[in-house]
Amino acid sequence: MSEEMKALARRCEGCRNCPLGASRTNLVFGVGKVPSELMLIGEGPGEQEDLQGEPFVGPAGKLLDDMLEMIGLDRTRVYIANTVKCRPPLNRDPAEEEMAACRPWLEQQIALVRPKIIVCLGRIAAGEMIKKDFRITREHGQWFEKDGVKLMAIYHPSALLRDVSKRPETFADLRELRSVLRRETALYEK
Ligand code: URA
Repeated sequence: MSEEMKALARRCEGCRNCPLGASRTNLVFGVGKVPSELMLIGEGPGEQEDLQGEPFVGPAGKLLDDMLEMIGLDRTRVYIANTVKCRPPLNRDPAEEEMAACRPWLEQQIALVRPKIIVCLGRIAAGEMIKKDFRITREHGQWFEKDGVKLMAIYHPSALLRDVSKRPETFADLRELRSVLRRETALYEK
């Protein structure tokens, strides 16, 4: 991780912009390569992430690792963060106000990572990053563009654990992602 990202994470440690900062065990700031042409944004830490201080280390994280492997990548080559950096109690969805309070941290992470492509993991992240009324069932796998960055949402790995019938569509989305990464980034060149 870059020194600037480490310094940002240290500043975030003391954040009390929303009540989640008081109830969490560990801050789950983000992990991976800085800068990176690909950034993944999830929803928020679950139980395992809260205990270990790292995103996507529970069962959904194992599946995310498999999904990255399918497209020839791993978590050391990309940057992974969440819309909120502290665990919402009982794994509820993060509230709008909590995501808004956490957004400046995410914006600063994006500025340091400088991704060409952002993949939103699930409806909540897509609603925050792409558009409020994002419909994951209809709009997963489609490309959007904001401030020169391409964005796509795919089903959240937890949704794929719950409902395996969504997996073939996700494999197709990942193939599309890989072809754009091959064409528009240098991720596969080293
Ligand atoms: N689900 C998420 O959205 N993020 C994590 O870090 C873990 C599970």
